[in-house]
Amino acid sequence: MGTSAEEQGFLDPENLSGWRDRPPVDLRTDVAHSARIYDYLLGGKDNFPADRAAAEQAIALYPPVLTAAREARRFLVRSTRFMAEAGIRQFLDIGTGIPTSPNLHEVAQAVAQDSRVVYVDNDPLVLAHARALLTSTPEGKTAYIDADLRQPERILNSPELLDTLDLSRPVGLSLLAIMHFVTDEEDPAGIIATLVDALPVGSYVAVTHATSDFFPPELAAAGEDLYRSRGINFILRKKEQVLRLFGDLELVEPGLVVSHRWRPDGRSADVPDHEVFNYAGVGRKN
Ligand SMILES: C[S@@+](CC[C@H](N)C(=O)[O-])C[C@H]1O[C@@H](n2cnc3c(N)ncnc32)[C@H](O)[C@@H]1O
Repeated sequence: MGTSAEEQGFLDPENLSGWRDRPPVDLRTDVAHSARIYDYLLGGKDNFPADRAAAEQAIALYPPVLTAAREARRFLVRSTRFMAEAGIRQFLDIGTGIPTSPNLHEVAQAVAQDSRVVYVDNDPLVLAHARALLTSTPEGKTAYIDADLRQPERILNSPELLDTLDLSRPVGLSLLAIMHFVTDEEDPAGIIATLVDALPVGSYVAVTHATSDFFPPELAAAGEDLYRSRGINFILRKKEQVLRLFGDLELVEPGLVVSHRWRPDGRSADVPDHEVFNYAGVGRKN
């Protein structure tokens, strides 16, 4: 960050091609945002004092959150590569986060250069950085939608999505480290079902979700409160609850496991499950 407009909490996306009609983005730097807390945990620079305070409180509460964030990103790489190697050439990534190398399109396009990726997030800073996500191989394509997961029809009907993805062909839907921000009242399983209904047979859905399974109740409650006290819903769910989010999808091997156990590449073999505390799975629509 660094321009005076950014320091004031506003960023005019005037210089982003195709964004000229949009109003200035209000970054609300005075309150913590989940995208920026996560960016700080990953060692990124796109965060503000309110985000850093929240992240430091999380680290003090449970230092392995740093391991969990790193492993979440590694799962993004492995699951995207898996879907690309299974033949998927179109991806929909909802809850993209602030650009972090490698971004999902870079992983997919390393397998197949013609991969097409639609990114979706509702955070103003992710919007402001969208240009970094809109790089693509000439053979492929990327697009960004400023939208909310809790309005799945809006995402599915958006011109950017329909211009980029052919919904008659299989899609890899990534919902990584986002479903735990959706409350039961907001019907996370129903949201996923709406998205899956719009995709053809042969599509895949990758999900990671934070869990309370490895924590004493007081620690789990303190973790949820840390976000809730800042106006962010955060729900640590049990394995059974996360499993239900997949609905009728068939989980590919090894099923729903702690994320570093999902088709591991050997780099995280010694990490105990409680340090990662995120379940990960990939479902296939049959
Ligand atoms: C913890 S980050 C995960 C980033 C990335 N998916 C990953 O796993 O590395 C969660 C992201 O989801 C976004 N998010 C949270 N709730 C959302 C919602 N209702 N609609 C769209 N994006 C949302 C946040 O802005 C943030 O960028």
